[in-house]
Amino acid sequence: MTAEPTTGPTTGPAAPAFDLSTTYLGLSLRSPLVASSGPLTARIDSLRALEQAGVAAVVLPSLFEEQIEHEDMQAAGLGDLGADSNPEATSYFPDLGDYESVVDRYLRHLAEAKKALSIPVMASLNGETSGGWVRYARLLENAGADALELNLYGIAADLDVTGRDVEDEQLELVALVKASLSIPLAVKIGPNYSAMGHQAARFVDAGADGLVLFNRFYQPDIDPQTRKVSAALILSSSAELRLPLRWTAILSGRVEASLAVTTGVHTGADAARCLLAGADVAMMTSALLEKGAGHVATVENELVGWAVESGFESVNQLRGSVSQRHVEDPAAFERANYMAALTGFTSSFR
Ligand SMILES: Cc1cc2nc3c(=O)[nH]c(=O)nc-3n(C[C@H](O)[C@H](O)[C@H](O)COP(=O)(O)O)c2cc1C
Repeated sequence: MTAEPTTGPTTGPAAPAFDLSTTYLGLSLRSPLVASSGPLTARIDSLRALEQAGVAAVVLPSLFEEQIEHEDMQAAGLGDLGADSNPEATSYFPDLGDYESVVDRYLRHLAEAKKALSIPVMASLNGETSGGWVRYARLLENAGADALELNLYGIAADLDVTGRDVEDEQLELVALVKASLSIPLAVKIGPNYSAMGHQAARFVDAGADGLVLFNRFYQPDIDPQTRKVSAALILSSSAELRLPLRWTAILSGRVEASLAVTTGVHTGADAARCLLAGADVAMMTSALLEKGAGHVATVENELVGWAVESGFESVNQLRGSVSQRHVEDPAAFERANYMAALTGFTSSFR
C-alpha cells in the first residue's frame, strides 16, 4: 500500500518518511500515540502541550458516578443542616447559586478541551448504576465528546456473585450505553476474566467499537508499622506491557473492533510492540507523568526511526504482523511459552 507521509506536530519531531496514520473507533488519527485518561488530560495547558508534542487523541479523566453521588449527598446534608437549625429561616441555607457540580465541571472541561484542541477528545465514564451510565453517557455526547470510553474498573469481591453474573452485568451495561449513543464506544476492561478472549468477543457483540486493554488495578498495601492499608500509587514500567501485548496479539483480526493498549507503553519500542501485536493505538499515562508531555515527540521519533530502519512504510503495513494469526508459532502466545520461558531461564542461570 502506498502511503503519504504525515505532517509532523507543530513543535515536535520533523515530518517522518513513514505514514503514521491510523484509525481508532472510526476516527482518523495522525499517529497511533494517544494520551490515556489521567492528570495530564485534566488540564487545558497540559492538553495543549500534548497536542503540540504530536499526540493524536486524548482521553479525559473519568467522570465517576460515585463522586457525583457523594457530592449530591453532601449538598443535601448541608441543606438539612440549615433546615434543622431554624425551619423558618431559609436564609440559613447555603447559597448554591455559583456552585458548580462535578458533572458541570466535567462538561465545562470537555467543552474547553474541544475548543482548545483540534485532535479528537474522548470522554471517560465510570458508572455505578445502569441509569447513571446512560444518563451521563448522553450528557458527554451532547457536550461534544468524539467518543466515549467506559471504564469498567471493578473488583468482584462479593463471594455470592459468580463470574458469569459479573460478565453478564457488564455486557448489559455496554449494550445499554451503546443503544443510547451515536458516538463510538470503547470499553476499558481488566484482564481478569476466566476466558478473556470469549468475554472480549461478547463485549464487541454487545456493541463495543473498541477494547482498551487493560485497566491497571492499583493494589492496596499494608504498612506493618501503622497496621494501616495504604494505597500509594506506583506508576507503570515497560515490563507491564507484556500482559496487554499477549491479549492484543490473540484478539487481533479475530474481533471486529479497534484495539488500544494501555499499561506499560513508555518508549518507541513499546509502541512498536503494540502495533506489531495488532493494536490500532498505544496509550500512555505513566511515561508522560514521569517525563512530561513533550515525551510524546520522543516516542514518535523512536517509533519512526525503528520502522524506517526495519523497512516499513506505514502503520497499516506493520500492524498485526506479529499477532497470533501471523506468527509461525501461535502457541508462543499461549501456554507453550510457559515451559520454554522456564527452561530458558533455568539453563541460562547455571
Ligand atoms: C494518576 C492517574 C490517574 C488516572 N486516572 C484515570 C481515570 O480517571 N480513568 C481511567 O480510565 N484511567 C485512569 N488512569 C489509568 C491510565 O489511564 C492508564 O490506563 C494506566 O495508568 C496504565 O497506563 P500507563 O502504564 O501508561 O500508566 C489513571 C492513571 C494515573 C497514573
